[in-house]
Amino acid sequence: MIRRPRCYEVAMATDPPISVAPEVEAALSRLGLIGAGDDVRFTPLTGGVSSDIWRVDRPGQPPICVKQAASQLRVEADWRVPVERNAFEAAWLRRAGDLVPGMAPRLLGEDRATGLLAMEYLPPGDYPVWKQQLLDGQADPGVATAVADRLGRLHAATAHDNAVANAFQTDEIFWGIRLDPYLIATATAHPDLHTELERLAKSTAATRLALVHGDVSPKNILIGPDGPVLLDAECAWYGDPAFDLAFCLNHLLLKCLAAPQAMADFLSCFNSMVSAYLPRVDWEPPADLERRAAALLPALTLARVDGKSPVEYIVADAQKALVRRAAIPQIKTPRDQLSDIAETWRRALTDAQH
Ligand SMILES: Nc1ncnc2c1ncn2[C@@H]1O[C@H](COP(=O)(O)OP(=O)(O)O)[C@@H](O)[C@H]1O
Ligand SMILES: [Mg+2]
Repeated sequence: MIRRPRCYEVAMATDPPISVAPEVEAALSRLGLIGAGDDVRFTPLTGGVSSDIWRVDRPGQPPICVKQAASQLRVEADWRVPVERNAFEAAWLRRAGDLVPGMAPRLLGEDRATGLLAMEYLPPGDYPVWKQQLLDGQADPGVATAVADRLGRLHAATAHDNAVANAFQTDEIFWGIRLDPYLIATATAHPDLHTELERLAKSTAATRLALVHGDVSPKNILIGPDGPVLLDAECAWYGDPAFDLAFCLNHLLLKCLAAPQAMADFLSCFNSMVSAYLPRVDWEPPADLERRAAALLPALTLARVDGKSPVEYIVADAQKALVRRAAIPQIKTPRDQLSDIAETWRRALTDAQH
């Protein structure tokens, strides 16, 4: 069902419009999304670091969302990324929306020349960001189940599919914006883990099984009335689906430090996600996928403290030390089961609270 965003006329009247580069308006006009002489208003959306993203209000029509990739990420480190990733994001939106309806915003058009795409606008009143709910301590295992279910369905639908593999040959981008800044940067900070982390990065890079989103973070998931919607597929890659599972589980573990009062609920979400995802794994033995996710997970956790992109809510030295204490032994001796990792994490946090 296509939902009509509510109250878009009100949004048009109250938000301060900004002007955008003429190339953006020209591209939208070429795509037939705005007409010549239309009174079009652009309102920047916040929350992203890698793109310019606007709500675009058009007279008499529902708003749309337009995203244009930037070449330099807005983070502290100097981090340049190729703008062609916008075309892969558009391709992911199209493919995911076809295979798992409702999982992605509907793609309305793309313009390669300007590195821009247009999609349906999902109003925050109806589509809150999952990260905000989690930070407020609102951790519903049903949501985690729904995220895992949609993700698992997409992985299953694209597994061992040569056409999809050919359309997402993004090994280099994925290495540059995922495996290098997370795993290799962490190896540089922890020379004693160098062998393990480098091996993990290389084995992940060499695993090509299904269409990976690459940034399944709660900040990129909107909780809509018909289920979770994944945004921000700039890291899309035909590779190891275990990466998506581990990446999202990592955020659930880290949220225990951001909102400790909800630790039990975050861990329930963790377990629900694993329980909903693994039964979807029909392209390989689920235990193999779980083993790879369990190898990646502690490395990703450590990366969010000592890698190139640390999370903003872990600042206290005691918290960083806790992350290292929990993660490092699991990197040195990888676990087979994700539930072991959650249990170790629960014990480490409980000990730290006493
Ligand atoms: N289709 C959409 N409808 C409504 N809001 C959106 C849409 N796409 C993105 N946003 C908002 O913009 C923010 C940044 O978008 P995202 O695609 O994650 O960009 P970035 O790559 O810069 O992180 C999201 O967190 C969300 O709040
Ligand atoms: Mg984002």
